[in-house]
Amino acid sequence: MSWSPSSWRNFPIKQQPLYKDLEELRRVEEEISKFPPLIFAGEARELKSQLAQVAQGKAILLQGGDCAESFANFNAQTIRDLFKVLLQMNMVLMYATGKPVVKIGRIAGQYAKPRSSEYEEIDGVKLPSYRGDIVNDIEFTPQAREPKPQKLIEAYYKSAATLNLIRAYARGGFADLRAIHQWNLEFLKGNELEEKFEHLANKITQALKFMEACGIDPDNTPQLKQTTLYTSHEALLLNYEEALTRKDSFTQEWYDCSAHFLWIGDRTRGLDEAHIEFFRGIKNPIGVKVGPSMQKEELLKLIEVLNPQNEAGRLTLIVRMGANKIGKLFPPLLKAVKESGAQVVWSIDPMHGNTYKTEGGLKTRDFENILQEVKEFIQIHKAEGTVPGGMHLEMTGSDVTECTGSISASITEDALSSRYHTQCDPRLNANQALELAFMVAETFKELG
Ligand code: PEP
Ligand code: CO
Repeated sequence: MSWSPSSWRNFPIKQQPLYKDLEELRRVEEEISKFPPLIFAGEARELKSQLAQVAQGKAILLQGGDCAESFANFNAQTIRDLFKVLLQMNMVLMYATGKPVVKIGRIAGQYAKPRSSEYEEIDGVKLPSYRGDIVNDIEFTPQAREPKPQKLIEAYYKSAATLNLIRAYARGGFADLRAIHQWNLEFLKGNELEEKFEHLANKITQALKFMEACGIDPDNTPQLKQTTLYTSHEALLLNYEEALTRKDSFTQEWYDCSAHFLWIGDRTRGLDEAHIEFFRGIKNPIGVKVGPSMQKEELLKLIEVLNPQNEAGRLTLIVRMGANKIGKLFPPLLKAVKESGAQVVWSIDPMHGNTYKTEGGLKTRDFENILQEVKEFIQIHKAEGTVPGGMHLEMTGSDVTECTGSISASITEDALSSRYHTQCDPRLNANQALELAFMVAETFKELG
């Protein structure tokens, strides 16, 4: 049972790239293991204690960002626009429910993707699947699809620069409540969501004025002008994660310092497999995706292995059943976990169970299904007397057309191809994400 950052290497592992040059891979791992950590263990502990508040229903979790971050789209605008929408959603949820919102981005390291098949075939040509920019390139050529160890290093530097900008926005005045009117995105201008948000912003501005009259303002109360956006990604490539796993000098415990929060995907959560082995030893707050194939006994065992001390905030279960399955599959799991007395954060990922292909061959998700799954998730908790902690979304601050529907964006299947930019799964655009926040804020208020 002894654990080390490399003990996962003794277990079977899924979804890993097949590198040709193993010597080069070893050199890269060695190099990364000497790089500075991207986060400080104390920050991960802080997030864990905030997630403990979520577990008790005293705060709400909002986790969101790209399905796969892209090297080509690595720029300030992409980062800033996601940050803006998350801030807006944060305000909407906070204002409606009166609870603080714990914000985690799928950002600054969300570069590795599990795939449903090893190979992709187009017109009789068969090549290895694209596995995210940390592994290979998306173009359909043999050269592009070859996994390249150097990309691990590029992913590290891009994560570091992204995180640097996030920290600057969070602390440098961007999140100042006095600037709330500037969070609206250009393309939101003129639609009814902008009006809705402006209305909320005006109310907040009024409340600020009142507090200022009482002597509380952003200059003497930093909470009013600063925020925290934590980082997260699926810790799929364990060689990369191992290289960034460090012993905290304060506590002598191991933390994976590639992000504050890491999760295990639905395809790699096998109990006797490498990912579970790696995760059981790191002290970060962690998540596990819970998809339709999850069995009760399996889930209870998983909780025992990953959170043996039953520490609140340590483990987030991210449910992703699909709108048509959640009503049947989720209640028995929820009951079993409740009866076990395990402390977990329950979050809903309404994206991955609702993907389908259009006749034109584009992967998409419909807004109605997404909204429906979130609402049912909250209702199921209400019926059980448990806490619907929050949600996990694939979204962007850009004006893309990848998911259909919603009132504000009203995207039809035919319109999808106009701005379909995702590297992997379809994301909610800024309109759709904000609209979802307004609609679920109501449900959280009524039922949460
Ligand atoms: C993801 O979150 O991008 C993902 C691949 O999800 P899942 O593991 O739930 O399929
Ligand atoms: Co995805």
